[in-house]
Amino acid sequence: MLALLTSISVFGQELSGDVKNGEKLFKDNCTACHALDRKLTGPALKGIVTSLAAEGVDKEWIHKWIMNNEALRKSGDKRANEIFEEYSRTLMDVFEGRLSDQDIEDILAYAENPPVPEEEAAPVVAQKDDSENLSYILLAFASIGIILILTLLKINQLVRLKTSSAELTELEAARIKTLSQFYNRYQGLSCSIISIILVLSLYGVWAWLMGLGVDKGYAPDQPIYFSHKIHAGENNIDCQLCHSGAKYGKVSEIPSLSVCMNCHRNISEYTGKYIEPGKSKEFYTAEIKKIYDYIGWDEENQAYTGIQKSVKWERIHNMPDFVYFNHSQHVVAGEKTIIADYNRKNPNNQIDVVCKACHGAIDTEDVVKMANDFTMGWCIDCHRTTEVDMNNGYNAAYFNKLHEKLKKEYGEGKSKITVDAIGGLECGKCHY
Ligand code: HEC
Ligand code: HEC
Ligand code: HEC
Ligand code: HEC
Ligand code: HEC
Ligand code: HEC
Repeated sequence: MLALLTSISVFGQELSGDVKNGEKLFKDNCTACHALDRKLTGPALKGIVTSLAAEGVDKEWIHKWIMNNEALRKSGDKRANEIFEEYSRTLMDVFEGRLSDQDIEDILAYAENPPVPEEEAAPVVAQKDDSENLSYILLAFASIGIILILTLLKINQLVRLKTSSAELTELEAARIKTLSQFYNRYQGLSCSIISIILVLSLYGVWAWLMGLGVDKGYAPDQPIYFSHKIHAGENNIDCQLCHSGAKYGKVSEIPSLSVCMNCHRNISEYTGKYIEPGKSKEFYTAEIKKIYDYIGWDEENQAYTGIQKSVKWERIHNMPDFVYFNHSQHVVAGEKTIIADYNRKNPNNQIDVVCKACHGAIDTEDVVKMANDFTMGWCIDCHRTTEVDMNNGYNAAYFNKLHEKLKKEYGEGKSKITVDAIGGLECGKCHY
């Protein structure tokens, strides 16, 4: 315990506080507006006792300010009013009743002498994507193919060069003059070249065909590199905090940048442990700064500039216009049974968030991919096997009669009502 207690002398002012407790209190009460080493909503607080002492402000003043800055300002204190004006009259919380004098002492000891962070653990490195390897191999093959073709053409060209030299006349007969002669002479080599070209073009055609209509796996580049793994996975942020539309209606909506700013006003740098291969902290931090650029946030002065640019997210899921799909029907009314049905079919991959039944484990993906093919057959399959939750208010009211009828026919407890029984296979339910 003794080691945790610091006693520093600052221009004659004794500071005796528990740094560790101070750190905790600082994080709980102050980090919404203050950082140690840079300006946020309020000034940087590292070494605040020392720097204010240099201005002739004593520790007592700091205590008073933190305890109740409003009362201090109202008392006519000059410095308190000056700094308030300097920060465009932004209100700092009043901590009277929330923090004791000793708590404030602890916070100041921490701000004076923050412990140096321990040697950072090695960043967690995610598995490298196989598809990346595949494209390298294909690229290598393509380059070899091109080099071979160029060599072949060059040989052919060289051979065509007319020469009068007598010694060469003998070779003349054996010389290759056309591609077909080359083919006859080097059948093995030619065959391999032709097969490589064939395989490559077939792969191209196949990839193109697979891309038509069905977009499973489609993952375009986005204007800001936004990682669901970092947000929904590492930091456990609820899907519906950002996609708040899902509960209420048809679309889930991509959050607006002001939703991002609720957190990123204060999170201006990436300090997480997780780093995707090929990326770095600097890369992530630069992506966060892009939010500021789009929404017009002047980080230096902690103020909006009023100059905004619209951010154009590439849409990944997009049903044809003639299909009607409603999120709330599935996320609210269907939530329980969809989760239960999914868990029954996937005993080794249980979910507790309904979104994952259709969108896959997005919280493990850096880049969103379409997890299913989203065809008509996919919708129908699920409607055939998933029960309707007769206990939620909406369904209980609407389907009571049907439920009673089925109970009579099949007996209590055996009446399993799946979505198709309430019209989930009717064309008109899904098509306009
Ligand atoms: C809601 C935002 C907010 C919170 C929370 C907050 N502060 Fe402040 N703080 C400010 C602002 C803004 C200023 C600048 C003066 C002003 O506008 O009131 C400030 C000023 C200060 C100053 C004066 C610095 C100087 O140079 O005079 C100190 C010290 C301080 N805060 C400490 C703390 C501590 C310690 C905590 C946590 C216990 C805390 N603040 C929590 C917003 C906040
Ligand atoms: C911090 C905010 C945030 C959280 C939390 C979040 N998302 Fe997203 N989501 C976004 C943004 C921004 C995009 C658009 C960029 C992109 O596609 O990566 C997006 C895109 C998507 C898309 C693709 C939309 C399209 O274009 O078709 C799906 C599906 C999705 N999110 C599902 C989820 C699920 C499921 C969760 C919870 C596991 C979740 N999101 C959590 C912000 C968030
Ligand atoms: C029953 C399957 C299903 C469930 C459950 C589901 N989605 Fe979707 N989601 C879809 C389909 C289908 C689309 C395409 C809709 C379209 O293009 O009109 C979609 C599209 C999206 C989009 C793109 C924007 C939009 O609304 O078109 C986002 C974002 C999204 N879903 C997020 C979520 C989140 C978050 C949850 C959980 C709260 C969730 N989804 C639950 C099937 C589902
Ligand atoms: C609920 C809080 C919260 C919201 C809302 C939020 N973020 Fe984040 N964001 C975080 C946290 C936490 C980190 C990780 C910071 C760290 O570990 O240092 C992060 C990291 C990032 C990063 C760097 C890592 C990466 O994903 O590339 C970017 C870029 C980012 N956020 C963009 C956005 C965008 C764009 C939005 C709005 C669509 C958004 N964030 C909304 C909390 C949030
Ligand atoms: C993971 C399973 C699942 C998938 C996939 C799914 N649904 Fe559903 N759907 C349900 C459940 C469960 C209900 C019943 C909700 C309730 O209790 O009202 C439902 C209900 C519906 C209804 C209302 C039916 C009625 O009679 O009221 C429509 C319309 C619908 N779904 C459209 C779609 C479309 C379009 C798709 C494909 C893009 C789709 N669903 C994919 C599970 C699914
Ligand atoms: C549970 C929802 C659902 C029901 C019920 C449904 N469809 Fe579809 N249908 C879809 C979806 C989703 C698509 C779009 C598939 C895609 O884009 O790949 C689609 C596409 C189609 C297409 C376009 C061809 C295609 O495959 O893209 C036709 C035609 C069609 N449906 C006819 C019908 C008829 C006829 C019925 C009634 C017997 C019916 N659908 C019932 C969801 C449904």
